[in-house]
Amino acid sequence: MELSITQPDDWHLHLRDGDLLKAVVPHSANHFGRAIVMPNLKPPVTTTAAAVAYRESILKALPTESNFTPLMTLYLTDNTDPDEIKLARKSGVVFAVKLYPAGATTNSQDGVSDLLGNSLPVLEEMVEQNMPLLVHGEVTNSDVDIFDREKVFIDTILRPLLQKLPRLKVVMEHITTQDAVRFVETCRGGSVAATVTPQHLLLNRNALFQGGLQPHNYCLPVLKREIHRQAIVSAVTSGNKRFFLGTDSAPHERQRKEATCGCAGIYNAPVALAAYAKVFAEAGALEYLEAFTSFNGPDFYGLPRNESKIKLIKQPWKVPEYYALKDGGQLVPMFAGRNLDWLPSTLHERSI
Ligand code: DOR
Ligand code: ZN
Repeated sequence: MELSITQPDDWHLHLRDGDLLKAVVPHSANHFGRAIVMPNLKPPVTTTAAAVAYRESILKALPTESNFTPLMTLYLTDNTDPDEIKLARKSGVVFAVKLYPAGATTNSQDGVSDLLGNSLPVLEEMVEQNMPLLVHGEVTNSDVDIFDREKVFIDTILRPLLQKLPRLKVVMEHITTQDAVRFVETCRGGSVAATVTPQHLLLNRNALFQGGLQPHNYCLPVLKREIHRQAIVSAVTSGNKRFFLGTDSAPHERQRKEATCGCAGIYNAPVALAAYAKVFAEAGALEYLEAFTSFNGPDFYGLPRNESKIKLIKQPWKVPEYYALKDGGQLVPMFAGRNLDWLPSTLHERSI
């Protein structure tokens, strides 16, 4: 069996910089036409000038002949100036602004501390410029249980934000709960959407502790209970246009995952398409796969859909145990050493 689908895009991707960027970008470029590139570098990408420079280094790191297009984002801080949003829009290469509540995740120490107060003028300019806000939807207060952080974020930050600025375009990134699903489903007006990762569709929080601590299944927002996983699967396989593909592929070297204080992030770029296909196939909903991978994202962002095609072939293939890095380090992908059923073609596309 074989599926031919319009080339997908990844609406949430961490590409890093330097040698790690060179090692990971081919995996995304193999399958995806475009990707929204997260700005949480060290230091973060907070200006249009920095985003333009980062984009250049991504283009340089691409395999020759690749048509992969990075769509850049700015990292919102307490000091972001509304004029920066005008510059970003004018640049033609910045497509969104990312909100990390301060301290929420990897390299988020420069994140926002007072969204509804200090950051309001920037958000108002984003409405003017029709610039989407991509939210890492977790509160960071230490008195909120880590499994409740998304729900509390929705109730205390996201609802009030959208009441104040109903025309603001918002993407709830990497949703993990039935609360987020309901929130997106019930928002009227079409200005709120969500990206969904392979791990939050295929794993629940048991995967963190299966036979011992499993650092390669640790990401943020952390995996949740099975009922939440099922709610997310139902949402995406129902064909709702407000949900689309965002891998949140977040590479960290093996040593930084298997450590006393391990980093959050799952490296899923090489397996993501096979993983999404598995979800839709198991739900008997393959007819909605293409919209999720290739239509809903560009439609929400107001960008053209890709024209080329890729194939997904129903054929078992083994995920590598790891990818070797130049400096002797290793990257362990999601489903390392396991078999997956759907093999994405990498070379078939563009001519079709
Ligand atoms: O697990 C995660 N890793 N979640 C994030 O939000 C950030 C990401 C990273 O940059 O490693
Ligand atoms: Zn992310």
